[in-house]
Amino acid sequence: MEQIEERILKLSAEINRHNYNYYVLSNPEISDFEFDKLLSELIKLESDYPQYKQPDSPTQRVGNDISNIFTTVAHEYQMLSLGNTYSEPDLVDFHNRVVKELEAEPEYVCELKFDGASISVSYENGIFKRAVTRGDGSKGDDVTANIKTIRSIPLSIKGENIPEKFEIRGEIIMPHRVFDQLNELRISAGESPFANPRNATSGSIKMIDSREVAKRNLDCYFYYMMGKSIPASTHFDSLKMLADWGFKTSADSRICKNIDQVMDYIHYWDKERKNLPYDIDGIVIKVNSFAQQDMLGFTAKTPKWAISYKFKAEQVSTKLISIDYQVGRTGAVTPVANLEPVQLAGTVVKRATLHNADQIALLDLRIGDIVYVEKGGEIIPKIVGIETHEPLSSPTVFISHCPECGTELIKPEGEARHFCPNSDNCPPQIKGKIEHFISRKAMNIDSLGEETVSQFYDAGLIRNVSDLYTLTKEQILPLDRMADKSAENIIKSIENSKSVGFDKVLFALGIRFVGETVAKKLAYAFKNIEKLAAATKEELTSVDEIGDRIADSIIEYFAKSENIRIVADLMNAGLQFEIQEEEKLSENLAGLSIIISGTFKNFSREEIKDIIEKHGGKNVSSISKNTDYLVAGENIGPSKLEKAVKLKIKIISEEEFMELIG
Ligand code: IVH
Repeated sequence: MEQIEERILKLSAEINRHNYNYYVLSNPEISDFEFDKLLSELIKLESDYPQYKQPDSPTQRVGNDISNIFTTVAHEYQMLSLGNTYSEPDLVDFHNRVVKELEAEPEYVCELKFDGASISVSYENGIFKRAVTRGDGSKGDDVTANIKTIRSIPLSIKGENIPEKFEIRGEIIMPHRVFDQLNELRISAGESPFANPRNATSGSIKMIDSREVAKRNLDCYFYYMMGKSIPASTHFDSLKMLADWGFKTSADSRICKNIDQVMDYIHYWDKERKNLPYDIDGIVIKVNSFAQQDMLGFTAKTPKWAISYKFKAEQVSTKLISIDYQVGRTGAVTPVANLEPVQLAGTVVKRATLHNADQIALLDLRIGDIVYVEKGGEIIPKIVGIETHEPLSSPTVFISHCPECGTELIKPEGEARHFCPNSDNCPPQIKGKIEHFISRKAMNIDSLGEETVSQFYDAGLIRNVSDLYTLTKEQILPLDRMADKSAENIIKSIENSKSVGFDKVLFALGIRFVGETVAKKLAYAFKNIEKLAAATKEELTSVDEIGDRIADSIIEYFAKSENIRIVADLMNAGLQFEIQEEEKLSENLAGLSIIISGTFKNFSREEIKDIIEKHGGKNVSSISKNTDYLVAGENIGPSKLEKAVKLKIKIISEEEFMELIG
């Protein structure tokens, strides 16, 4: 037994050391194969002898199957942010304030400002204890299990002068290479790509399944230590110490003896940052001496001894080759610029959005112009200006007809964009409707995605949502990349969707302005599609929260024979077009409009609303002369009460309400 415990100890220490060599020092000693062999031996031993599993066991790196529910925890030390400067004169102002306060020229440490998600990690007796997100600065989410999967963060540390308890702050980042791979995967799975590595990072550290986080290949740089007895007298020394203990710190931090050296550092990185394998959005300048930091102190939100200098968004110039026009799912037409390929912030840019016709006119953009391109928060960069006009070019004329279906475009009053009005026959708009129909909150046909819908459409198999229900396995099997199993799954999940409730089916139809909540209200108010289709504007607007705009849109939808045909086909296919009556408990409240106010002893507000509906009543949210009852709970709103008295509406207590429903 002792031998086993010893072996587990030895393996844990050895694997942790190899992780450190690989992920912190980028200097592996053994091959991946040998590493995997050690790890699988440890996994096996730990599963047979869990009593010997070490608190810093490297097997925690692969995540676990316990769903994360992030509890909010208070930070022991507030997570402050930094004051920002965007210009050199502002930075000189900061420096002057520091000099005035200290009555001396300080030494600074300049560091890269990593663009990711900040994290606070606490260690106790050399063991990784807890990791918390920044949150609002005072409290954040406990993301320990997820952060333990980041291999460059030590699970245990060794070295001299390690305080018994301390917290360190750092930035979780996703390197460009990892980001590009992740987005490629997402796009091919029909998921939307992340806009930038920062978003991808914050999304990753909040994932429910830590095993998924482990696959995201995140990294972390540490830049700040806090605790009661930090064994250093300068920030730079504390960084060195962190590195000695096994933390990954940036090798690019520098001591600057004066403000000129700070400026040199900034100029250097403003150019050089494009060669870094990850994003930075500026430089952080910190007073080096802890004694001087103490003299300067803090404002409510930021230290007075540090500041960040933010880089301007990177810009490059390149040639505009042509303009494409893309038609979206809603029919909106977006002009997209094709550019001569150019390097920008770590990636090659070939296309840029132009937003709308007004922007093209404003810039007087012409084919052949040399344009400035900038990367904002979005994936696709934008054209922000013109360096030189192509002398022989003529002004760009925005297209007048839809490039997809040839229909004349319209530009509605007050809208900046052009639209294709042919919503029923324009291919991207039809595909968009089908994608909405299958989406999770609608019919939830999860075996289909954007790509398969497009594939089916292009193969002529579907022209509207009802065509999905006549698809056969034999029809889809010959399509590209369609395996037998996936074809079967698709047909099965389409079949399963027939049991989706009426309210969701109504939402899935994609009637303009009929979102999820409105669909629910309509489904419960009208009970079935025939009644809804026959409803007058008055009947529609008498439903809680249904106004003129929604009512008009519903009437317009059912006035189109094409829509009636689709609904009829869906009905024949067996979809749910009426509310399941088994839900009904009684008809005691039939025809009654009831409003609730205050809090209740026996029910939550949601429960009581549900009960009203299950007994045939209608729960309304604002009082009118058509309201029959006000159910008054505790702490009833005074204005509601006043209005009810004025309109002579019957006010009943919770007990009276219970009698009413029997
Ligand atoms: S120091 C009390 N150093 O920038 C000082 N922050 O706007 C704490 N950041 O929330 C911050 N790189 O997420 C510091 N080298 C660096 C940094 C850095 C990135 C982030 C951090 C912080 C934000 C401040």
